[in-house]
Amino acid sequence: AKLHTLAKSKGKLYFGSATDNPELTNTSYVAQLDDSTMFGQTTATNSMKWDATEPNQGQFTFSGADQIANLAQSTGKLLRGHNCVWHNQLPSWVSNSGFTAAQLTAVIQNHCGTLVARYKGRTFNLSEPFNDDGTFRSDVFFNTLGTSFIPIALNAARQADPGAKLYINDFNIEFPGVKSTAMQNLVRTLKQSNTPIDGIGLQSHFIVGITPSTASQVQNMNAFTALGVEVAITELDVRMTLPATPALLAQQKTDYTSTVAACQQVKGCVGITLWDWTDKFSWVPGTFAGQGAACPWDENFVKKPAFDGIAIGF
Ligand code: XIL
Repeated sequence: AKLHTLAKSKGKLYFGSATDNPELTNTSYVAQLDDSTMFGQTTATNSMKWDATEPNQGQFTFSGADQIANLAQSTGKLLRGHNCVWHNQLPSWVSNSGFTAAQLTAVIQNHCGTLVARYKGRTFNLSEPFNDDGTFRSDVFFNTLGTSFIPIALNAARQADPGAKLYINDFNIEFPGVKSTAMQNLVRTLKQSNTPIDGIGLQSHFIVGITPSTASQVQNMNAFTALGVEVAITELDVRMTLPATPALLAQQKTDYTSTVAACQQVKGCVGITLWDWTDKFSWVPGTFAGQGAACPWDENFVKKPAFDGIAIGF
């Protein structure tokens, strides 16, 4: 099966995979990533973030971001801009400069406006405004501007490109609970104030055996789409405690199927993005000690049971 072709034939906009610039020197990797029947969408895992694109105030560097955008363009892939405002990978000139509210407003407007204008017609994320308990995250944006940093960023993005699709992206909002409810309340508030918001990104960094059920994911997606936004699965992977065993790989296959099936059951779930397709370049081992094997292809680019799990889910 070719996953993007399959997703399209089932009414979805795309199936895609994130990628990162250093990986693009691996020719076997690139050959598989380029296949637009397998991956019809991509997201830069690092090179469109704030530290990569505006390392010093007003000095934009787009070489890494352009490389991913050009790859998307030349291989017929949609592109998700990731991301315009986020508390991580944020240069200290933003987080530690003691900007006033007015100054930080201008900084956000310039950053989001510049990125969105450069990559017109794409989707853009604002990321991770919430703590797991549903309160707003205490970062420089919230601490300086309260919740207004969100409409400030979204309005600047819309103004820079009326055609941009604007998302808020977070984790632990893939199932019903306080954090998902907080995001739903935010969507309501934004809609009431006519702030542009088109979609909610469900990161979906799951764990083998405790991936939310299809029913739970569907219920959750429906709660968002009922508010007049679309949803997308934006960073899917399903990690396990190493070593991978046949039993774990079989459960992982089931977990991929449950997740894809949830998106398939919800019309407003537009597409699915893997947070890279091969274990060779997964972020998991570097972030979660002792865990890995989270992707549908192994580190030798061989398909795992999870690959069939995805195909079954559509
Ligand atoms: C990760 C990248 O994959 C890593 O390479 C980097 O070191 C840290 O960030 N949620 C997100 C992504 O929205 O931006 C994160 O990406 C993974 C978690």
